[in-house]
Amino acid sequence: MSSRMTPQHRLRQTAILLVPALLGTPAALAQTREDADARAARVEAQMTDAERMSLLVGIMPIPFPGSKAVIPAGVPATAGYVPGVPRLGVPAQLATDAGLGIGNPNLSRPGDVATAMPASLALAASFDTGLAERVGATVAMEARAKGFNVLLAGGMNLARDPRNGRNFEYLGEDPWLAGVLAGHGIRAIQAQGVVSTIKHFALNGQETLRFYADSVIDEAPLRESELLAFQIGIEIGQPGAVMCAYNLVNGHKACGNEHLLNTVLKRDWGYKGWVMSDWGAVSSASFFNAGLDQQAGSQLDKEVWFGQPLQALVDAGQVSKARVSDAVRRMLRNLYALGIEQAYTPTPIGYPAHARVALEAAQAGIVLLKNDGVLPLAKEGAPSVLVVGGHADFGVMSGGGSSQVIPSNGKPRFVTGDAGDPSTMFSRQMLMPGSPLAALKAAMPQARVRFNSGYSADTAAAYAAKADLVIVFATKWEGEGHDSGSLALPQGQDELIAKLAAANPNTLVVLETGNPITMPWHREVRAIVQAWYPGQEGGQAIADVLTGAVNPAGRLPISFPQSLSQMPRSALPGIGLPERTPVQVVYAEGAQAGYRWFAKTGQTPLYAFGHGLSYTRFSHGAAWARNDQGITLGLTVSNDGSRAGADVPQAYLVERNGRKLQRLVAFQKVPLQPGQRQALSWRVDPRLLADFTAGGWTLPAGTYRFAFGKSAADLGPTVELRLPAMALKP
Ligand code: BGC
Repeated sequence: MSSRMTPQHRLRQTAILLVPALLGTPAALAQTREDADARAARVEAQMTDAERMSLLVGIMPIPFPGSKAVIPAGVPATAGYVPGVPRLGVPAQLATDAGLGIGNPNLSRPGDVATAMPASLALAASFDTGLAERVGATVAMEARAKGFNVLLAGGMNLARDPRNGRNFEYLGEDPWLAGVLAGHGIRAIQAQGVVSTIKHFALNGQETLRFYADSVIDEAPLRESELLAFQIGIEIGQPGAVMCAYNLVNGHKACGNEHLLNTVLKRDWGYKGWVMSDWGAVSSASFFNAGLDQQAGSQLDKEVWFGQPLQALVDAGQVSKARVSDAVRRMLRNLYALGIEQAYTPTPIGYPAHARVALEAAQAGIVLLKNDGVLPLAKEGAPSVLVVGGHADFGVMSGGGSSQVIPSNGKPRFVTGDAGDPSTMFSRQMLMPGSPLAALKAAMPQARVRFNSGYSADTAAAYAAKADLVIVFATKWEGEGHDSGSLALPQGQDELIAKLAAANPNTLVVLETGNPITMPWHREVRAIVQAWYPGQEGGQAIADVLTGAVNPAGRLPISFPQSLSQMPRSALPGIGLPERTPVQVVYAEGAQAGYRWFAKTGQTPLYAFGHGLSYTRFSHGAAWARNDQGITLGLTVSNDGSRAGADVPQAYLVERNGRKLQRLVAFQKVPLQPGQRQALSWRVDPRLLADFTAGGWTLPAGTYRFAFGKSAADLGPTVELRLPAMALKP
């Protein structure tokens, strides 16, 4: 850890990993922030115009063709750099991607590795706020130890479409789940004395034509879905910066969107931090008046708008000096509030301890979708097991793009995929080392475990016919900048699985995908395990779940449709059109996305949001609801089986004054010993019950019915509550 750290700071780092409850109290944070405001104002007042302007522009400190940016000596290759103002003690900002671990764009820092965490979608599947904190804290410690003080983390666009190539970087389809997990992650990141962003604000719902796609949605559903998720994430996490998105929202570029930035974020929500652009998202100096405070990664834009062009607007009286001061103060107050006084000095990192967090996260994110009793694998006997496909002899799949992490546990392998040029992080498929095959062999020393690549389905099927058990690993790569046009597994893997299942009735499937997929073979196989992109410890985690060393407790944070025809849009807007074609993505389903869409249209998904099996059995009872200094729901959960395990009971609003609807309002991951029972009570955020009307939240008076369930489609006890009319500020 940094030599500049006080013993208190070191203690705080340890405590945060062990005891999430020790995170700063709101009162303490308010106190620090007040001081930070005063100090920011004092320091900003002493700046020259040029110094102020210098804070409003960042570069990507990586040389690339066409870039005019001057990279100061000593600045490492990373996503972002903003010079400080040394004479006033203002620290330089050194930013790194950090959604799934610390990035190393295109391996520009040769040899630099980091702990590669599972996909955020896997983290969302844990439904575990404490885990989100442990992962956030771990990534932030590595960032700080590598010298970074700004983390481009907090990715949380709601998964509205299972084809979005970046869903693996986000936290699923539900506003409450995504908002709460993002908030806890960000809070833990920032407790390490670094800034976290929350991104990409807002409605960055697909990668196809991402610079030209206009996300069209009405105000009320926008507030009730994507914006509510961000609002909750910001309230809990208080991120230092908000990163605005590439796409347009209702006709205006998100980074120059007066309504989103000035009205919603800064006025309605009272957000005190700064808005930073995504890299290459700025196309005019006028974005500044619309609420954008910092043009980041500026050489990816056509012009450096927030340098000379912005100063010219100030000189011409079109941008006020007060607005410039406001932007600078927003930045300084958060740097001060988080105790960031200087760029950090690199220090050694304890990777083995961090790998344990990555392992815990991978285990917790795995969802057992189907199991007819074949899992967990029997430890006794000497079965012959055939493992097929998915490069399971080497490692596990990961996602592509700016979130890519070069893992700390060994050399990754790059696979040239369908996506084209294998030389960039946006298109190459990277396998994390850590072989599930090796982990299985180690866990089942009695068994004869063999591997077949699966490249020839017929050869694999011939071997399968002779084995006692067949475990097929199927992968699907996804990455930033690409959407998959279909939900099928690529490269003939659906046919491979079907052939193996036909050859051997004891076939089960492990999926390493960044999104839901369709499974034409799902009835033919005995078990299905969704492992997502499980990060560098994923191979071990998969083996742990298959053998029962870990009882799976993940739940789906995203609905798995039976086919694309069940979705609001069967074709992805703009797919196949040439680059630079403007396209409208009309979210006519409004806030009724994901499981709400299935509920509204009466369709049955393949696997529902919230679904996930366990090796033990849970039951729910003694449900109640009260409105007593807040809306509170309660439930008793029991482990009726003979193994320890964790349940994730969920509460949904299912009816309001006789009108059916469905909204997740509470969840909790509850570890239970065999026979153990626990009474739970949850305070419900009233905005989840409300409509956004007339500039605020309104709850009609009347009867609210809640259902407790194991998934959005498997609901148990219900309770009713009469509530008076309520109005809440936006
Ligand atoms: C991504 C951001 C990322 C930034 C910096 C962009 O391509 O959209 O999520 O933080 O690059 O690498």
